[in-house]
Amino acid sequence: MAGYLRLTLIFMCVFMFSCSERVMGRDPDSLQDFCVADKQSKVSVNGFSCKDPKMVSAEDFFFGGLRRGDTNNAVGSNVTAANVNQIPGLNTLGISLVRIDYAVDGINPPHTHPRATEILVLLEGKLLVGFIDTTNKFHSKVLEKGDVFVFPKGLLHFQQNVGVGDAVAIAGLSSQNPGVQVTANSLFAANPSMPDGVLSKAFRSDKTLVDFIKGKFM
Ligand SMILES: *[C@@H]1O[C@H](CO)[C@@H](O)[C@H](O)[C@H]1NC(C)=O
Repeated sequence: MAGYLRLTLIFMCVFMFSCSERVMGRDPDSLQDFCVADKQSKVSVNGFSCKDPKMVSAEDFFFGGLRRGDTNNAVGSNVTAANVNQIPGLNTLGISLVRIDYAVDGINPPHTHPRATEILVLLEGKLLVGFIDTTNKFHSKVLEKGDVFVFPKGLLHFQQNVGVGDAVAIAGLSSQNPGVQVTANSLFAANPSMPDGVLSKAFRSDKTLVDFIKGKFM
């Protein structure tokens, strides 16, 4: 009886722990004011190791480059990032942002951020936005200036300029280093190349079509 009780208690503890972890899902608390990335450090950690706090200055928290990106490219959009790679002070803080510029008809093609949820505010123009959840449901809206939309962590999403002029958006991301995989590029422009046989089966097409699409990414 005592053994059974102990087992029940252990199960209850494990259950409560896993629930609270799920409800409180977030970055761990910082143990100091900041941990500015020391890009020179040879020590490899999850993120970057900390620069000597005495050497930290306002410059470590500043990025003067969130200007208009050049949209004269194949997709007609340009993402300018301000994450830990541009702002070393973001190390361990679990936050970053991007500016996205869109030419008329330009798209930020379907992509995922493996480490971040994204919240986007449209500053100028008109955008068709959407994401696909893991049940394959498509969640989509047309945004007007001032509208906000959320792309949950890890889910496939895109934006397209459906207005008559240029569009510009700012998006916050819940990671110092969100990461991005642009699906079309991952599949058709990987290096080394994805085998044609894998892609032709996956897309229920022949290898000629797969090679044709691959050629578009050269
Ligand atoms: C984005 O804009 C920047 C600044 O104009 C430019 O250097 C960069 O090449 C552009 N990227 C693409 C993919 O067009």
